[in-house]
Amino acid sequence: MDLNISDRRALVTGGSQGIGLGIATALAAEGTEVIIASRSLENIERAIVSIRQTHPQAKLFGCAVDLRDEQNVRQKIGGLLSEKPIDILINNVGGPPAGPMTTLPLSAWDTGYQGLLRSVLILTELVLPSMQKQGWGRLLTITSTAAKERIPNLPISATFRAGLTAWTKNLAKEVGRAGILVNNILPGPIQTSRLDELEKKSPDFYRSMQDETAIGRIGKPDEIGRVAAFLCSAANTFVTGTDVFVDGGYTRSY
Ligand SMILES: NC(=O)c1ccc[n+]([C@@H]2O[C@H](COP(=O)([O-])OP(=O)(O)OC[C@H]3O[C@@H](n4cnc5c(N)ncnc54)[C@H](OP(=O)(O)O)[C@@H]3O)[C@@H](O)[C@H]2O)c1
Repeated sequence: MDLNISDRRALVTGGSQGIGLGIATALAAEGTEVIIASRSLENIERAIVSIRQTHPQAKLFGCAVDLRDEQNVRQKIGGLLSEKPIDILINNVGGPPAGPMTTLPLSAWDTGYQGLLRSVLILTELVLPSMQKQGWGRLLTITSTAAKERIPNLPISATFRAGLTAWTKNLAKEVGRAGILVNNILPGPIQTSRLDELEKKSPDFYRSMQDETAIGRIGKPDEIGRVAAFLCSAANTFVTGTDVFVDGGYTRSY
């Protein structure tokens, strides 16, 4: 299938490792120009080197930005947009603070809001006008199956991700006729440093997640990347306003 996005420009936030890197790699493989954004320039450079190992011709750029810092986001992404439009926005950021509901301080909820939800609102506000002008755009947000089913110690993730399900549905209705498709991917357990972190807090987390999948293993970032590339492509013409589970059958509900 030709995804037909080799003339497109994508911004992948949290693109320097884990799921974001899996998506950046999949888009780069399609010939898309990819801007990898994360806080650490060193992480970004490492990501670019790793993608170039398999895709030497990849069109890759970096952008050091802290998604929880509004001014920083407006300055950096505004600068990118002054060059040319961003056609594909991947909203992805590190996971929020984790822990039992009763122990999480209000400041942890503020951190979660800034990273998971507020950054999406700001980035969308920035990229949408040029997408509307050109009549084409793709927005994809990486959320979590926690939006649908409880995962112990992830109430902050669950709360803001459930909110993003509603946000996506609302925005998709408003911009669909302008050629803009808006979706979420809900990853199941994917082998990244985020999962290692959760395992440290709750030993056995890793094995219990694996046992809950239908296929009996943890997923890999490139398995998210391939679905993301399709959803953000010209080949996707009718999937919008929805949550797409990429979870190896982890989720129990229908
Ligand atoms: N892994 C899983 O099993 C899984 C399952 C469901 C949902 N998710 C969700 O998917 C997202 C990605 O997960 P992951 O496992 O790929 O995480 P990860 O390996 O920790 O990668 C997070 C990425 O985000 C960047 N980042 C973190 N904070 C940032 C900030 N304030 N501003 C800009 N960039 C920032 C990091 O780079 P820098 O450090 O350089 O900033 C890194 O590139 C998370 O939100 C997680 O909750 C993960």
